[in-house]
Amino acid sequence: MLSAFARPAGAALRRSLSTSAQNNAKVAVLGASGGIGQPLSLLLKNSPLVSRLTLYDIAHTPGVAADLSHIETRATVKGYLGPEQLPDCLKGCDVVVIPAGVPRKPGMTRDDLFNTNATIVATLTAACAQHCPEAMVCIISNPVNSTIPITAEVFKKHGVYNPDKIFGVTTLDIVRANTFVAELKGLDPARVNVPVIGGHAGKTIIPVISQCTPKVDFPQDQLTTLIGRIQEAGTEVVKAKAGAGSATLSMAYAGARFVFSLVDAMNGKEGVVECSFVKSQETDCPYFSTPLLLGKKGIEKNLGLGKLSSFEEKMIAEALPELKASIKKGEEFVKSMK
Ligand SMILES: NC(=O)c1ccc[n+]([C@@H]2O[C@H](COP(=O)([O-])OP(=O)(O)OC[C@H]3O[C@@H](n4cnc5c(N)ncnc54)[C@H](O)[C@@H]3O)[C@@H](O)[C@H]2O)c1
Repeated sequence: MLSAFARPAGAALRRSLSTSAQNNAKVAVLGASGGIGQPLSLLLKNSPLVSRLTLYDIAHTPGVAADLSHIETRATVKGYLGPEQLPDCLKGCDVVVIPAGVPRKPGMTRDDLFNTNATIVATLTAACAQHCPEAMVCIISNPVNSTIPITAEVFKKHGVYNPDKIFGVTTLDIVRANTFVAELKGLDPARVNVPVIGGHAGKTIIPVISQCTPKVDFPQDQLTTLIGRIQEAGTEVVKAKAGAGSATLSMAYAGARFVFSLVDAMNGKEGVVECSFVKSQETDCPYFSTPLLLGKKGIEKNLGLGKLSSFEEKMIAEALPELKASIKKGEEFVKSMK
């Protein structure tokens, strides 16, 4: 764990523990009482980058907020319960993180969550569009390949769409890729950086091992196994939890890493790069994850696909039809809403 805090690139958690950083991000977590929401809120409360933490859920937020508020860090914490309290949770926010919704059970794909989570995300992001239209919105709720187009369409409906501020959080795929590559090569995971591009479900998760730093080489059979493990790592956790949900603790870590990178960049730190599933022109898919240079106003520059191996190009070609279908499903869902 400590080694991850020492990660130089992204710099997220280590900086967040430093007492010298004095910043004032106002962050809301929607779905704050859940398996991800609680540890994510704990990591945010632990950070000097955050001055105000507002926690929303349809259950248990008074308790979660009371508990976190006793921690001796400066962020104020307040809980908001039920839709009538949602506007006050959001007003004045710089960053909104959304892990609300149901998680997978064994045998389910992320797309099986669509019916429940699409409505939840559309409702919550409509409130963001109304009450904090300038905030950065980070969506964790699955299926991310559809919930990002849903968020974009909702913001368009409200006339406040800014594609540079809407992020599908895929950081857990990068975190897993770094960990698994480090395991195989006997490296310190904090020093490994594997870009993961595409989307956030099965074969749409495309680890770009050829761009890993430090450079690593695998025979093709080992590479295929490694990529398969990264793509199915979420399912590995779902199976191990045997009906008790999906990744929560590693997802909270990954969500916090992404938020801290974003806030660092918003505070003017230069050279902050994270992969995220966003509006994109890098392929013929309207949303795609690639490394992004983050800045004061969200995405400063899309760093694109970079140089790919022919195997990675083939993975992209094979992922595009599924990705496009998931995106279309999200867009059509919002269009069909009254
Ligand atoms: N992006 C990723 O890499 C990634 C990784 C793991 C899980 N997830 C997704 O994150 C989501 C949450 O997972 P979890 O394990 O925390 O689930 P959970 O069931 O433990 O928690 C979900 C929380 O959302 C709340 N909620 C439900 N409807 C709501 C609404 N309308 N408004 C506000 N809150 C609401 C619930 O009360 C609960 O507290 C799932 O969709 C899961 O698939 C994403």
